[in-house]
Amino acid sequence: MGRTKATITGVAGHVPDYVLNNAELETLVETNDEWILTRTGISERRILKGEAQGVSHMATPAVLELLRKTGTDPLEVDMIICATTTPDYVFPATANLISHAVGARNAFGYDLSAACSGFLFALSTGSQFIETGKYKKVIVVGGDKMSSILDYSDRKTCIIFGDGCAAVMLEPSEEYGIEDFVLKTDGQGADYLYMQGGGSRYPASHESVDGKMHFVTQEGATVFKFAVTNMAEVAAEIMERNHLTAADVSWLVPHQANKRIIEATAARMGVGLEKVMLNIQKYGNTTNASIPLCLWEYENQLKKGDKLVLAAFGGGFTWGSMFLTWGYDAE
Ligand code: UT7
Repeated sequence: MGRTKATITGVAGHVPDYVLNNAELETLVETNDEWILTRTGISERRILKGEAQGVSHMATPAVLELLRKTGTDPLEVDMIICATTTPDYVFPATANLISHAVGARNAFGYDLSAACSGFLFALSTGSQFIETGKYKKVIVVGGDKMSSILDYSDRKTCIIFGDGCAAVMLEPSEEYGIEDFVLKTDGQGADYLYMQGGGSRYPASHESVDGKMHFVTQEGATVFKFAVTNMAEVAAEIMERNHLTAADVSWLVPHQANKRIIEATAARMGVGLEKVMLNIQKYGNTTNASIPLCLWEYENQLKKGDKLVLAAFGGGFTWGSMFLTWGYDAE
């Protein structure tokens, strides 16, 4: 008998109703549909509107749907990890709010912060609790309300990001599941993609608000160069380590930051674009949600035994890749 693996047994997502398209952005900043589409691949993104709405308000319907799909009683859930860059509060953790809202009273949980690689980091972390035999049902959530930290007068950032959330269930399997992962961080990236205010260095103050310190700042071209190189490199590394040829790979599931970064990663792996999951055109960069939202939307096309390579790159810098075998045929 082989080792126990953590396998994904279900996926569910939730995106807000409001569609912010490129035409509307043209009314907010000096930009145009053609520039956004050719430079990023994005046509529209979803925005969570309404008073006092946070990531947990998108995560709760996603997790409730996940419980329904997997036939799980909320009391059976051992653990919830929420990967997010835009938690409802600095504390308590968004995972706590989700557990409470879905009635997962026996679960413990926490948030994980690794920018756009957060879902991959959280999935890897969650898998360890299954592989050791400690837990049987671990939910990993990836969600962000990026609109809450965007300056809609900065055309370099506001056109890129969107809001959304999705969650997967991890359970033990002797057959399929997470086979291998490579995770990396490099703190020199902190200068190129960050939000300066709101933490312990620069807590909220009149000055921090006036100085727009509670918004995303990105040196796009620099991040682009690091992302193209590192995401492609780590995806190639996971293939080599696991003796995977391009023909073996059923799907590449990349973080959706920029269509050009995704294409470069696929090219480096030798994988054709028909095997690449894409949702950037309609959701933009949803940070922690992009990979699980892809899995959710492509779930019907996935078959038991499919070989998936996940890859991400994010602020900080953080990046990584994962090889997993898919565990079920869709309903
Ligand atoms: O998800 C986490 C990691 N994040 C990423 O991976 C993002 C990586 N970076 C990118 O995707 C790209 O760098 C961007 C999409 C952010 C920007 O694209 P770019 O091709 O790197 O543009 P740039 O920043 O080098 O700017 C090129 C030009 C500039 O004009 P000048 O100085 O050449 O006259 C910008 O001012 O495009 C201009 N520009 C725009 N024009 C129209 C920048 N933003 C816009 C805009 N509309 N929204």
